[in-house]
This record gives sequence, structure tokens and C-alpha cells, in this order.
Amino acid sequence: MRRNLTLIALAGLAVCGSALGQECDLTIEGNDQIQFVQSELTVSSSCTEVTLTLVHVGQLAANIMGHNWVLTTTADWQAVAQAGQASGPPDYVPEGDERVIAATGMIGGGEEISITFDISGLEPGGNYTYFCSFPGHFVLMNGTFIIE
Ligand code: CO
Repeated sequence: MRRNLTLIALAGLAVCGSALGQECDLTIEGNDQIQFVQSELTVSSSCTEVTLTLVHVGQLAANIMGHNWVLTTTADWQAVAQAGQASGPPDYVPEGDERVIAATGMIGGGEEISITFDISGLEPGGNYTYFCSFPGHFVLMNGTFIIE
């Protein structure tokens, strides 16, 4: 019940946010079924910075059902995901890898984490993909990041 109320509150914030012109804030949810609820995210090219909040709406711990949000170009994402597996816990993101445009820390059920990053160097209409780098999750947890 509490979780439902939280989701309603978040949805309310999102509606208010766009009404106020804050389309530079994005929210994405991950669950215990190894899914991102949103399979694509769209942001305006008028945004210089984007603040993304990842909400883990599941209940499993970060070492079992960890989720993060990693952004790369679509050309790079699978190679970076593979490199992330090899780089190990807790983040499974290759350290200092310039192909990583943005990456949050790894969280478990009931947690959320935000990251603010600069998109001024990215191409509107370009091909960008986000994924969770927890071992095995990138296969199911990936989506398209659109700058329009
Ligand atoms: Co995950």
C-alpha cells in the first residue's frame, strides 16, 4: 500500500514537473522482474543538464537484484555492458571508461538514486542506449534515450 502511494506521488510530481517546464528531469523505474518499466526516455535538446532518478520499485537487495542506469551510445552499449561485467561489484561499470556518458550507483529494492549530467555535447536525434550493468541484466534491461 505504501509503495502504491509512493508511485502515485511520483506520477503527480512528473505531471507537475512538465506543467512547470521542467522536462529536463527524468524518472525511470526498475523492478524485481529484471525490467525497466520505461523502455524509452525522451528529453528536450533545450536541456543543458538532465537529472535522472532511478527508482527501484522492487524489494530484493542490491547484491541479488541490483539496478543502475548507464548511458552510452547505441554503438557502444553492448561492449560497455560486457566490460562492466568484468569490472566487478558493486557497480559493474568500467572505471574511467570514456564511452560511459553517465552512470548511477547500484541500488536495491525500495531505494532510489539520482544523477545529473551534461547533454550539451550529445547529438539531438542521435542513437543512445541505457542499460543496467548488473550481471546478466543488460539483456533485458535496456532502452532508448532520445534527445529531441
Ligand atoms: Co539490474
